[in-house]
Amino acid sequence: MPSTVVVGAQWGDEGKGKIVDLLAQDSDLVCRYQGGPNAGHTVVAGGETFKIRQTPTGVISGKTSVIGAGCVVDPQVLLDELDELAARGIDVSVVVVSGNAHLIMPWHVAIDQASERRLGSLQIGTTRRGIGPAYADKAARIGIRVQDVLDPKILRQKIEVALAEKNLWLERIYEAEPFGLEDVWERYAGYAERLAPFVGDVSLLVDRALDKGKNVLFEGAQATLLDLDHGTYPFVTSSNPVASGAATGIGIGPTRIDRVLGVAKAYVTRVGEGPFPSEIVGPDQDRLRELGGEYGTVTGRERRCGWLDLVALRYAVRVNGMTSLALTKLDVLSDFVELPVCVRYRLRDGTETADFPAHQSDFHHARPVWQMLPGWSQPLDDVSSVDDLPPAAADYVRFVGDALGLPIELVGVGASRERVLA
Ligand code: IMP
Repeated sequence: MPSTVVVGAQWGDEGKGKIVDLLAQDSDLVCRYQGGPNAGHTVVAGGETFKIRQTPTGVISGKTSVIGAGCVVDPQVLLDELDELAARGIDVSVVVVSGNAHLIMPWHVAIDQASERRLGSLQIGTTRRGIGPAYADKAARIGIRVQDVLDPKILRQKIEVALAEKNLWLERIYEAEPFGLEDVWERYAGYAERLAPFVGDVSLLVDRALDKGKNVLFEGAQATLLDLDHGTYPFVTSSNPVASGAATGIGIGPTRIDRVLGVAKAYVTRVGEGPFPSEIVGPDQDRLRELGGEYGTVTGRERRCGWLDLVALRYAVRVNGMTSLALTKLDVLSDFVELPVCVRYRLRDGTETADFPAHQSDFHHARPVWQMLPGWSQPLDDVSSVDDLPPAAADYVRFVGDALGLPIELVGVGASRERVLA
């Protein structure tokens, strides 16, 4: 299977980094197709922990690591990350950035922060890294792209046009400090020399690789329920993490994708605001957070924790055209005697549905209908194959696969690459 998309099936933080790192071992290229430094991937490899935000996970394994046109790039974050990886002995010359990817500019970060402050109790809970405002400018066609940095004259012109509007917003609407043209221009023009060696034609590179039968891995950031079009809008990110986003975000046709591997935790977490039907009420929420180490990689925020939601997961199977699933962090559930799983939603009119509600108000008011599954009450530390799983743990995995009608291809039982069972 030469081309595979790995996509988050819930609200992010499913452990995609680890799965991508594992599959990267057999891949030639690893491609990020959307998002920016709002992503936080933790990869444990060779006894070392890597936390990366902007660069594709494949960089750790020395694979050609592509940042597609569908991404937004904070040049300072990217260059700092590349410097840090290089200092730890990683070869970063494998990184290729699309000239069409949009840049996160300082006003994007300022507006993200000011706009969240202004929304107050209605805030989205963004990572405040400028993601939404950068994608908004892209859609409004006043964005600045990676390739603009390579031409100081064009760069200056575009910054001038953008600032004429952004400074008005910042000063008059958000009562924030404006940015100076010279300062921003000098800073961004200064990135040119360092960025230039990494800029390439990503669409052509990936197309040629596929023609040659190379293995290409597409690494989704964020996740299905954070998708701008198909997630729980407005509590979403501003890009398209769903699998089809890989085609547009890289610049290949959808017919080039062979398989879609969804990644879901054996439970659910969510960072930021928004409805969350299977969120745990009571002390088990804190217990699960502690056991799973559920704190944001980028922001350090506490993640909200819930039991597995099969209604939302079935929706993710549908909108991604998922062909198999990786179920991660099964070991985190080892302490619980009983495991509730949300199998249907009860709607406001008392009816029950196994389908994800199409209307936001139905979703906001949906209540979980639980099925209780027995826990296994023993650690999974010594389990080195799926055949060694305690019967109740194996049943839990089987239950999920049957409910989704999907093969469970991988099961995660620990932090390192070696703790993912095939
Ligand atoms: P933004 O992507 O920073 O605009 O944030 C929008 C929403 O997506 C917020 O609810 C964030 O918490 C969420 N989000 C963005 N990136 C991630 C991620 O990598 N993991 C989990 N949630 C994320």
